[in-house]
Amino acid sequence: MRKTAAITGAASGIGLAACRRLLDAGWTVYGLDLAQTRLDAVAEGFAAYQDRFKPIRCDVADAASVTAAFASMGDRLNALICCAGVLRTALMEDMSIEDFTLVMSINTTGTFLCAQKALPLLRAAVTPDDPSRVVLLSSVASLRPKIVSGAYAASKGAVSQLCRVMAAEWAPSGVLVNALAPGTVDTPMVAAVSDPTASKGYRPSGVSPVGRIAQPDDVVDVMMFLLSDSARYLAGTIIPVDGGTQAAFIPPGTPLGSTR
Ligand SMILES: NC(=O)c1ccc[n+]([C@@H]2O[C@H](COP(=O)([O-])OP(=O)(O)OC[C@H]3O[C@@H](n4cnc5c(N)ncnc54)[C@H](O)[C@@H]3O)[C@@H](O)[C@H]2O)c1
Repeated sequence: MRKTAAITGAASGIGLAACRRLLDAGWTVYGLDLAQTRLDAVAEGFAAYQDRFKPIRCDVADAASVTAAFASMGDRLNALICCAGVLRTALMEDMSIEDFTLVMSINTTGTFLCAQKALPLLRAAVTPDDPSRVVLLSSVASLRPKIVSGAYAASKGAVSQLCRVMAAEWAPSGVLVNALAPGTVDTPMVAAVSDPTASKGYRPSGVSPVGRIAQPDDVVDVMMFLLSDSARYLAGTIIPVDGGTQAAFIPPGTPLGSTR
């Protein structure tokens, strides 16, 4: 039987790449995003997938919107992938309460709401041989926070803890919850803060020890592993997908490759 996933943040970056990969692999995909115009453009781009891409406008930070979105999906889901997220940058002393609340509402509360509303559908799809999956998007910021993005780091630290607790609570019913913790990924989120006039002092992490920043498909490859039978015994795991960025401290100014 065809598998079905719900992907939040489907209109851009990692979520969009995830939609493409799952559609290519034969899944039916509900693509949730707040940005209606971009979601319409994405749906147009996926026209070749006939009726297997189902766009839904949804604000993950709004309980009523999330409830309505998951109520429209039928009675079962094999996977939930939570990519919706925002980054707002400022020194902690300068950060507005509006920006702080926005980041926490979308990244943390939004992840919680979607996972909670998806749970009955995920449980309904479980078979003895095939657990359902939840993949959350944490960040390397939860493992090694960076100045000027304190609210973001806090929101992703919370996502990592939600991952662990939901995994322990839900694995007995066949729902496996894991998270990815990417380093810098080349997406519109990073492009938006890479402009020095808009960044409020934020600096992207730069290249990893691997020698480049990630592309969305570097993250989606690991996501596909988490959705596969090979990951049938993983629950509550937070996998860094960061090219070794947080593995060890690299003194500033060390030229990459100088350790060879
Ligand atoms: N890009 C990176 O370097 C990086 C690194 C680590 C983790 N992440 C995480 O990966 C996820 C995807 O990031 P990305 O880089 O693809 O970002 P992106 O900005 O390209 O895409 C995020 C999508 O989320 C949607 N969105 C925002 N608020 C929403 C809301 N309230 N309801 C529904 N949708 C909403 C946006 O419209 C957008 O389409 C995020 O959770 C992000 O924090 C990204």
